[in-house]
Amino acid sequence: MARHFLKDDDITPAEQAEILKLARLLKSDRFSMKPFAGPQTVAVIFDKTSTRTRVSFAVGIADLGGVPLIIDSGVSQLGKKESVADTARVLDRQVAQIVWRTYAQTGLEEMAANSSVPVINALSDSWHPCQLLADLLTIQEKLGSTQGKKIAYVGDAANNMANSYLVACAMAGMSVSIASPAGYEPDVNVVTRAREIAAFSGGAIEVVTDPGKAAVNADVIATDTWISMGMEDETEKRKQDFKGFTVDAALLAAAKSSAIFLHCLPAYRGLEVSAEVLDGPQSVVWDQAENRLHAQKALMAWLANQN
Ligand code: CP
Ligand code: NVA
Repeated sequence: MARHFLKDDDITPAEQAEILKLARLLKSDRFSMKPFAGPQTVAVIFDKTSTRTRVSFAVGIADLGGVPLIIDSGVSQLGKKESVADTARVLDRQVAQIVWRTYAQTGLEEMAANSSVPVINALSDSWHPCQLLADLLTIQEKLGSTQGKKIAYVGDAANNMANSYLVACAMAGMSVSIASPAGYEPDVNVVTRAREIAAFSGGAIEVVTDPGKAAVNADVIATDTWISMGMEDETEKRKQDFKGFTVDAALLAAAKSSAIFLHCLPAYRGLEVSAEVLDGPQSVVWDQAENRLHAQKALMAWLANQN
């Protein structure tokens, strides 16, 4: 049975730490591991648009000695013309791993249930676990470690990034304070799961409506777009609903003076973050974007070694 990475806690906290250690090693010695030598092929499928995920997986697979096969689902049979299960049965006889950016988490679960090779979630409506590996790597690099640190996430707490921050940061021993307007609170099941993990890892989970309260004493401030892919019809309503939740200089000043700012990108200056913060000295978003490469290479190399 192959191991899959469909959500943040599909690995244990110890395995998360192991993958992050491997990421640091691969970042310092970029071409040192060739788990896809052959070369073997890795399928990378996109149902939604992407820049970072597309580039970092394609480059990372090549770095690991493999060949990336990028498939845009609009020009494949996947979805409307052929089931996910049948697609998995065709792919797994030919490729070493399957990476998929899609909508419903159930699609990824169906792919994994029918695949003999690892399936990796490259973003779904529910989770963005590869992004969190990169974010945790960035926090380790900038702050020395994740254990005992506080992250404040401000904005859409009902989206994939909020879910992944809650679970992955709790696994890494962090305290998570999450602030959203009414109607955009985090999923209660995700909060419950994050609290279960935090009870073991030493972290804590706080759900608030005041961004200033979330930011107090934070080591990290993070946000994400207010309008995730698939939510475009709600753009005008969301711009109204999220007023007051922009991460600006005043909010950043409420955190520790040493705090770093994270954003998975793409960012919308003037909406969820001010240009001053995104382009300012506390922002580490470009290192964070680069770390997608190193973190995902570590994940793929680790999964390749699990059989
Ligand atoms: N952060 C992220 O996943 O970016 P892309 O949508 O460009 O892949
Ligand atoms: N929450 C965003 C993340 C983009 C990387 C989205 O799903 O569109």
